[in-house]
Amino acid sequence: MSAKKRIILDCDPGHDDALAIVLACFSEEPELLGITTVAGNQTVDKTTRNALRVLSLIGKDIPVARGCERPLVGELVTAPEVHGESGLDGAELPEPRFGPVREHAVEFIVRTLRESPSPVTLIATGPLTNVALALRLAPDIAGKIERIVLMGGAARDANATPTAEFNIFVDPEAAHIVFTSGVPITMVGLDVTNRALLTPEEIQGLKDGGPVRRAFAGLLSFYAAANERLLGIEGAPLHDPLAVAAVIDPSVITTQRVHVAVELCGSHTRGTTAVDLYRVTGKPSNAEVALDLDLPRFKRMVLSALERADRSG
Ligand code: BDR
Ligand code: CA
Repeated sequence: MSAKKRIILDCDPGHDDALAIVLACFSEEPELLGITTVAGNQTVDKTTRNALRVLSLIGKDIPVARGCERPLVGELVTAPEVHGESGLDGAELPEPRFGPVREHAVEFIVRTLRESPSPVTLIATGPLTNVALALRLAPDIAGKIERIVLMGGAARDANATPTAEFNIFVDPEAAHIVFTSGVPITMVGLDVTNRALLTPEEIQGLKDGGPVRRAFAGLLSFYAAANERLLGIEGAPLHDPLAVAAVIDPSVITTQRVHVAVELCGSHTRGTTAVDLYRVTGKPSNAEVALDLDLPRFKRMVLSALERADRSG
């Protein structure tokens, strides 16, 4: 029997990050070594508190390490219009049952990777600030990272500016460090995550479940309404859970090996991922970019994780 995949989830909860936590906690694969938080959807104080509240809701004691307060170079941009003032509006969640660990997220990542007997997969579902700093602080950890699976960017889509996706837009310098690190990368971007939709009917259906599903019915209704209002998307795009699903079962996405560069200084395009689908640059590939998904399989994974979370409560 092969050993369980070991993962760290670096996130900025955030509605879809919250569901990514549930999926990471309630799948047989993998072993979740810790959750690290970063500023993005909201301030890092709020995203850390939200990660802890989600863990209280689902009754899991996973170490949470609070990370960077702001991007490496630019000013922090948050997304209250999508995720609300708390970063997780739409349901009453329990107060955290425990606090974050004393270690900073970057130190947590470095130490955990160094101590791990086998390589660890980093799943990043927020701006890449913590991951980039960890790689700069301790370049030796690159050899201990099995792969970085990140939700961010797009070949042909955008949501934060006319050309950029939110996570990459918030910290393009960090994304640049990650994409040029030489570590194997899977980019799960808007090309697929905007199709990873839970319909309004499926969200309503969660109301018939236990406390975890009922909480997510409220959260995802809030989030779907924001997506409809701002982007004309009908349903809840489960961006971050798809990155976790791709680690649990890589066949849930179809990828193409290509070169990805991050635009750092375009006056209209900062934070855009330039994805060389047609190999016109001649540059060697540095990422597997997701271009298709198995939607029914993905939904089964998410809905059964929510069901398991309710059963375990
Ligand atoms: C990404 O941005 C955030 O709002 C979501 O949590 C997701 O990680 C989608 O662009
Ligand atoms: Ca996120």
